[in-house]
Amino acid sequence: MVSKYKICVCKGKSCTANFSRDTKEAFECLVQKKGLSKDILVADGGCYGRCTKGPNVLVIGPISEEEFSTYREQNLMPGPDGPKTQMYNEVTANDCRELFEQHCIANKLFEPLAEKETCDFTQPFGRKGESSHE
Ligand code: FES
Repeated sequence: MVSKYKICVCKGKSCTANFSRDTKEAFECLVQKKGLSKDILVADGGCYGRCTKGPNVLVIGPISEEEFSTYREQNLMPGPDGPKTQMYNEVTANDCRELFEQHCIANKLFEPLAEKETCDFTQPFGRKGESSHE
């Protein structure tokens, strides 16, 4: 069974100026090409307060079917109280394939663009203070 994910691409002013719409389109294309639209949702994200590091992308997951339904309509922020999230910075359209393959298909952190300040690189999904998802 394929894991579920929500990929949120910031549509705030600064990220948009840094072509976050191209990033979002690239993710949408990948999801469509792989036939994963039931399992991976690409959505707009609000400003994450990391405006100088855009385009910023918050990947939520792997999550359960139930969480997937719950988080579908919510604009989540990265943080210790929510679901498994990972913030990626400076994600251009050219980075999407590798990030997607690594995080959403291989279920591994994509280290090159993972946000360093909030990330624990010893954990598969990086969030500080959280153990492995497996
Ligand atoms: S505009 Fe994207 S993080 Fe603020």
